[in-house]
Amino acid sequence: MPQNNGENLFKVCAACHTIGKGRLVGPDLSRVYEKREQDWLIKYIRSSQKMVKEGNPDAVALFKEFNQIPMPDNNLSDNEIISIIDFIKATDSKESGTATTTTITEVQKTDTLTTASFVFSNDLLKRGKALFYGYEKFSNGAPSCIACHNIIDESLIGGGKLSFDLTKSYSKLSAAGIGAILANPPFPVMNVALNNKKLTDEEILAITALLQFIDQRNTENSQTSDNNFIFLLMSFVVAMLLIVHIYVVCESKIPSNS
Ligand code: HEC
Ligand code: HEC
Repeated sequence: MPQNNGENLFKVCAACHTIGKGRLVGPDLSRVYEKREQDWLIKYIRSSQKMVKEGNPDAVALFKEFNQIPMPDNNLSDNEIISIIDFIKATDSKESGTATTTTITEVQKTDTLTTASFVFSNDLLKRGKALFYGYEKFSNGAPSCIACHNIIDESLIGGGKLSFDLTKSYSKLSAAGIGAILANPPFPVMNVALNNKKLTDEEILAITALLQFIDQRNTENSQTSDNNFIFLLMSFVVAMLLIVHIYVVCESKIPSNS
């Protein structure tokens, strides 16, 4: 198997994995071949969800650790998977850490876009909204995200028919993960929709700002509504105690006419 076949095949994986550059959507795959048997890797890369369902302990532990983000199945032959593993080995032994995939390293280089939450201006947020809902067109003709996705945003209408909710995607994927998915969508439907219609770095940044904002605001909202609930519960308990108290007091004051 030629080396560059593995390199080519790895492009799909690179939306979610790095080799030696840290965790993205999935774990860093550097030295994974030392941690796992080759047979395990072949089976897992072909269908990790099948192994999770079969109750393989390592597969189940990984799935839990990564917030139950399912890794998509890969219709690959044993040889193709082995060539990917060889590519991971070759990249590890280069050590110097030269760029393995263009998309991810480009996204990560953008100053403001780090794995931690990033600071953005109001203008960027507005632009993200306009792009998401299609008020502003993507420069390369990609369909607006609302065609397939939904976010919880009081000011606006619901999403398209597929309506896959992105409200919590930012906590799940981080800025780097969202950037990687938008640069090179690992999901077939979305990949076809965005194929040859790449978003620009600025558009990706604007959308990421929106998803972070929506995510954080909804986390805050659910915390305040938790507090409201506790307050209500406490008021209820106090009210019940008062009623019981009044009842007991009255009871003792009413003369019993026996
Ligand atoms: C959409 C994102 C995504 C894509 C694309 C993806 N993976 Fe994964 N991968 C994950 C996640 C997330 C996990 C962690 C387990 C889980 O949550 O299912 C994982 C786990 C793994 C593991 C286990 C690592 C360990 O520490 O044991 C291997 C190996 C792996 N992936 C290889 C690949 C290869 C090879 C490809 C490309 C053919 C690929 N993945 C494509 C998301 C992805
Ligand atoms: C043609 C439909 C389609 C379009 C258009 C589309 N997506 Fe997707 N997207 C999908 C599908 C399908 C998935 C995978 C859902 C699954 O099965 O996990 C997905 C997954 C995602 C995810 C990962 C969600 C998560 O929490 O795991 C993100 C982030 C995302 N899309 C963002 C966007 C953004 C931003 C746009 C607009 C630029 C967009 N998508 C446009 C169909 C689409």
